[in-house]
Amino acid sequence: MKWKDIPDSARQKLLSLYESGNSLDNAAVTLGINSETLRRRLREYRYQAEMTRKIESGDFDFSFISSRKWNDYLVLEADDLMVISDLELPDTDEAVLQAFLMTAIRYNIRRMVILGDGTAQDQHGLSTWLSTWKDSESIDFGGVFGILNRLIRLLLECFDEIYYVSGNHDQRIAKVTNGQVHMGLLLQHFGGRVHFSQYRRMYLKTSRGTIGLFHQSNFSANGLSLSRKMYNVEPGFDGKKLSAIVVAHIHHWSCGKSDDNLAGCYSLGCARAPERTQYLNETPSTHSQWSQGFMRIQNGFIHNYDLHETDWDEVLGEYAKGLLFHRPLVKTQRIPD
Ligand SMILES: [Fe+2]
Repeated sequence: MKWKDIPDSARQKLLSLYESGNSLDNAAVTLGINSETLRRRLREYRYQAEMTRKIESGDFDFSFISSRKWNDYLVLEADDLMVISDLELPDTDEAVLQAFLMTAIRYNIRRMVILGDGTAQDQHGLSTWLSTWKDSESIDFGGVFGILNRLIRLLLECFDEIYYVSGNHDQRIAKVTNGQVHMGLLLQHFGGRVHFSQYRRMYLKTSRGTIGLFHQSNFSANGLSLSRKMYNVEPGFDGKKLSAIVVAHIHHWSCGKSDDNLAGCYSLGCARAPERTQYLNETPSTHSQWSQGFMRIQNGFIHNYDLHETDWDEVLGEYAKGLLFHRPLVKTQRIPD
């Protein structure tokens, strides 16, 4: 007889015999099993029975393992949200900010997100870009942060709450301080109205589905192709695919649909002024021209604006009159004919 064919009740009797020191030779002959093999099988059986009892009685308690989960993203349940990214203070373009604010006011949207790179943090020590070229306009991190504080105070006059998602620039201060200092610590004094996330993403749950908002590290000169790729690999939220995905960071405006045609795919223009960007103007670049813009999400529908390609009279009506950027269009980013 093979060990696997011996019933449990018989195994227990054999184990009792073994443990009381009796010979198993006769039993081994009866079963047709080598007596040494039978003793080994009984030791294994005893060990497995003991371990099974421990598991069933809860003796294997794993509660000492950290319960930290890396999925505590910012999640907002709302149908209306203004989205702006890549302000990269102090090099932000006031024209983008103004159009952004006027749109929020015109459409009465009271929540906004800075989808990464609120600050440039191009200072020497935080970035290697500028170590070769100092001028009298250069400011330190304290100066940049002072400007961010003033901007947030101003924005809080129009918005009830601001969400701030980390971008690669925002993380530079955390990198050089080994995480001891990060933007979140510096944004704590706004009475809980500024919500910071060290993650480079957040989710907006709307009545039309969940929109993923990302300041991903991936770069592409083509925003639509990047957002489609991100959508394909992003697992979604609450076990469901996203209804739309929005990517920042690449300074390239685009609108489209996913390869499966089920989700909206968008990339955001930036709020940085190209002409104030030293590294962009210091040497020729093979990258495509930047777009400038921002996004309005209202009733769960997405309106992605390119500052230079939007009919602001149509979007803002009376509110367009005072815009810094207004007709006649000055396409500062276009290569001249
Ligand atoms: Fe970025």
